[in-house]
Amino acid sequence: MTLHVAVIGSGPAGIYTAEALVKQSAEPVEVDVVERLPTPYGLVRYGVAPDHTSIKSIANYLRKVLELPQVRFLGGVTLGSHVSVDDLLGVYDAVVYCTGAMVDRRLGIPGEDLPGSVAATDFVNWYCGHPDVDPGRFTLDSSEVAVIGVGNVAVDVVRILAKTAEELRATDVPHEVLQRLGESQVKAIHMVGRRGPEHAKFTLKELRELGELTNADVCVRPDEAVVSGGDFPRQVLGNIKVLQGWAGREPVGRPRRLDVRFWMRPVEILGADRVEGLRLERTRLSEEGRVVGTGEFETLPVGMVLRSVGYQSVPLPGVPFSEKTMTVPNEAGRVREREYVAGWLKRGPTGVIGTNKSDAAETVRTLLADLDGRERTGTGGIDALLAARGVRPVTYDEWLAIEAAEAELAQSLSRGERVKLIGLEAMLRVCRP
Ligand SMILES: Cc1cc2nc3c(=O)[nH]c(=O)nc-3n(C[C@H](O)[C@H](O)[C@H](O)COP(=O)(O)OP(=O)(O)OC[C@H]3O[C@@H](n4cnc5c(N)ncnc54)[C@H](O)[C@@H]3O)c2cc1C
Ligand SMILES: NC(=O)c1ccc[n+]([C@@H]2O[C@H](COP(=O)([O-])OP(=O)(O)OC[C@H]3O[C@@H](n4cnc5c(N)ncnc54)[C@H](OP(=O)(O)O)[C@@H]3O)[C@@H](O)[C@H]2O)c1
Repeated sequence: MTLHVAVIGSGPAGIYTAEALVKQSAEPVEVDVVERLPTPYGLVRYGVAPDHTSIKSIANYLRKVLELPQVRFLGGVTLGSHVSVDDLLGVYDAVVYCTGAMVDRRLGIPGEDLPGSVAATDFVNWYCGHPDVDPGRFTLDSSEVAVIGVGNVAVDVVRILAKTAEELRATDVPHEVLQRLGESQVKAIHMVGRRGPEHAKFTLKELRELGELTNADVCVRPDEAVVSGGDFPRQVLGNIKVLQGWAGREPVGRPRRLDVRFWMRPVEILGADRVEGLRLERTRLSEEGRVVGTGEFETLPVGMVLRSVGYQSVPLPGVPFSEKTMTVPNEAGRVREREYVAGWLKRGPTGVIGTNKSDAAETVRTLLADLDGRERTGTGGIDALLAARGVRPVTYDEWLAIEAAEAELAQSLSRGERVKLIGLEAMLRVCRP
């Protein structure tokens, strides 16, 4: 008997789940990877920074899973609009939800919705060429920009703002986005952390890269680089050392300047019709370790505020969801009978790509143990249902045609290995001429 499983989402969690099913199952298995976009790889394609080409090359590993004979890619199919949970449970033995965390967390301060106040999710989608965001969405016409948050996404956003378009030319950034980056008026970038250097979430390798920027001077205020205590993990000590090394360093006249700030929290985004400033309050930790304001304020004269304070998942129709943890409640990946979860939707938006591999393996162990010895009723027969609804999934070969068109575009523009096509229509046009 063959075990038929639907995996929803083709990011790292979805693809590692498909791989673990094929590797761990003692009986024949067929896995359909259902993805709302025509393209696989989730945040590896539409999140990992374009200039991090070695990390992006993880796609070369993920593609091998999609090429396994037991695995099928069904692009352009959305759980919640094209298919429901009941549809899936009707034709598969089990379903694994791996839809990640697609929206931004909110700051909850006045002015957050002013034009010019932007979620990092949107900005990242823009420079990564995600079909949800128009390439004309952003004009970088402000000379000063604030990035709130000191995690790795904030570091990515800062790097993209700080680099020249020429430095990004060999990446896969859509051509229109590259042109807009080339027209950027940004001179000063303020990266703002609400706690100290010892609490920053960025990792050492990513932090060091900021010090290697050739187009921007990196500055840290000596008083904000001071830390109390000394018993820190190695990564944190590394961060502190790098930041203290930058403290007090004089700018050497590079075209852009990055100020990495600590112990400042945003309290209001100012402006009448668009962002004109960011009001910050100096902070300290209370005795209970909470961030509290000191009543000392400062206003940054910025025209754009990028809020990079974390991602969060959204509920899937018909699937349990905890508004408290913003994840799907589960026990080692089990949600309900025949329903499972993996990746960011399971454990929240933390961890690197590799974290999803062990996470997916755990979910698959649970699934296979639960289904061991039970009657197989799944047929995997989703195709007829989709056809009856007029939905024609994008096949893996059609995705390869999109990839080939992106390589051709790069060549015609004398850029790197590939340049992203913009919009669903353009992608469908090249794969279904
Ligand atoms: C901006 C950014 C940069 C990052 N850079 C790095 C990095 O450099 N190195 C690193 O190790 N980690 C990085 N990470 C972390 C890494 O990307 C995540 O750990 C990983 O992508 C999470 O995998 P996932 O499969 O759970 O979610 P995702 O990668 O988000 O995949 C979810 C997939 O589900 C699809 N989907 C969503 N809803 C539906 C639906 N209703 N129906 C069908 N399909 C659906 C989505 O289109 C998407 O393809 C980064 C994260 C972000 C946000
Ligand atoms: N190169 C890479 O490996 C790479 C690149 C990108 C992303 N990733 C991974 O992807 C995951 C998500 O990254 P992320 O940067 O989105 O999230 P993150 O690591 O959780 O960082 C979020 C940042 O936002 C701050 N923040 C949260 N709420 C805030 C508020 N109300 N006001 C001010 N600041 C606030 C946090 O500060 P507090 O700590 O004080 O809450 C923290 O500095 C992480 O695991 C990351 O490592 C990895």
